[in-house]
Amino acid sequence: MAALKVGVLISGRGSNLQALIEAGRDPATNARIVLVLSNKADAGGLARATAAGIPTAVIDRKAYADRAGFDAELDRQLRSAGVELVCLAGFMRILTDGFIAAWHNRMINIHPSLLPAYRGLDTHARALADGVKLAGCTVHYVRPELDTGPIILQAAVPVASDDTPDSLAARVLTAEHRAYPLALRLVATGRVRLDGEKAILDGRDVPAGIMMNPAD
Ligand code: GRF
Repeated sequence: MAALKVGVLISGRGSNLQALIEAGRDPATNARIVLVLSNKADAGGLARATAAGIPTAVIDRKAYADRAGFDAELDRQLRSAGVELVCLAGFMRILTDGFIAAWHNRMINIHPSLLPAYRGLDTHARALADGVKLAGCTVHYVRPELDTGPIILQAAVPVASDDTPDSLAARVLTAEHRAYPLALRLVATGRVRLDGEKAILDGRDVPAGIMMNPAD
C-alpha cells in the first residue's frame, strides 16, 4: 500500500504537527506529510515543518475577499500537492461547508475534549467548571457542524482537583500527541471504515480495564 499523502493545516505552535511528522517517519504509519499550510505567517509549526524538510505555505485570509475565496486557495494548494488526507492540527479558522464537502471523509481533526462534550473553545476551563473527573481528546472526521463527525479515536486523562486550565491542557496535550499519530496510522492503513456516521475500527482490540478517577 502506497503511503498516504497528507496535508496538515495549522495556525500555531504545531506540537500536534510535530507528533505527526515523527509518526510519518515510521513506515508503519503509511503516511507522508507533503504540505503544511498555515493561515498565520508567525505560526511556530512552520519552522517545525521546514526543519523536517516539508514544504510550507502561508495563506493570509486578508488577501481574499471572503471565506470562500480563502478556502478555494487552500483547496487548490492541497490538490496541487497531491494531498489525499487533510489533518487539521490547531487550525483556528472555520472552514466553509463547500470546502468540508470537497474533503468529505478525507479530512480529520483533533479536538481537546471527549466529544460530544465541550465542542468549541475553552474546553479545559469548562470541564473544570463542571467538575468532571476525566478529560481527554478526540480525533474525528470533519463535518460542517463545528467539532462533530465520526469519532475515530479518543484518549482519556484524569482531572486533578487542583488542576488549572493550563495544567489540564498540558496533560491532555500529551494524550493528543499519542492519539493523533495513532489515528493517522489507523486511517492510512485502511483500518477505519465508515458505517453511516460511525467510524468502525477493524482488527483493533479494545483496551482492557477501566480508567477510574479517583482510582479507589
Ligand atoms: C490542540 O490542543 C488541539 O487539540 C487544538 O488546538 C491545539 C493545537 O496545538 N485543536 P498545537 O498547535 O498542535 O500545539
